[in-house]
Amino acid sequence: MKKIAVFASGNGSNFQAIHDAVESGKLRAEIKLLVCDKPGAFVIERARKAGVPVLEFSPKQYASKVEFETMLHEELQKNDVDYIVLAGYMRLIGSVLLKHYPERIINIHPSLLPAFPGVDAIGQAVATGVKVTGVTIHFVDEGMDTGPIIAQRAIDIQDGATKDEVAQKVHEIEHEFYPETLDKLFEGKR
Ligand code: GAR
Repeated sequence: MKKIAVFASGNGSNFQAIHDAVESGKLRAEIKLLVCDKPGAFVIERARKAGVPVLEFSPKQYASKVEFETMLHEELQKNDVDYIVLAGYMRLIGSVLLKHYPERIINIHPSLLPAFPGVDAIGQAVATGVKVTGVTIHFVDEGMDTGPIIAQRAIDIQDGATKDEVAQKVHEIEHEFYPETLDKLFEGKR
């Protein structure tokens, strides 16, 4: 059974979906740690309620990314973590974690990459007027939402759909698709 650390910065609905899938046995993994770079984020409350240990930190309190990633790496090692699962972690992963977890850091992004990387991908898609968007799960490299694609799922955007409507659809897909894809990956079935 793979041991994972989930990294998140905000609401944490994907953290919740991953946790629930672990609890129900749909995702064969153990969540060892929630890592959050935004003290006070709602995901921390979700993790506490779920009984998942929380590591919250403020990047500002470290001199550099190398410094805080070195701290994170030590904590991950103590917990014997196999995979880092990014779930709305709105920060680029740096050299320290990339070196120690090659092809062991996974991200979910709310667009069909390489379209609409970066922040507000759903807003970008709606503003551009594309008729199809989706969700991408990929390995993380040093770029922003780049790295080898593991799986993608498409979503139609109906004429006149608002950003909120598209976001709701995207999140519904994410909550099923992320645990399912992680399970396949961890079981060597991709
Ligand atoms: C998700 O939609 C995820 O795809 C996105 O942040 C949201 C987090 O929601 N990630 C990115 O944009 C990464 N570039 P959540 O906190 O409710 O899980």
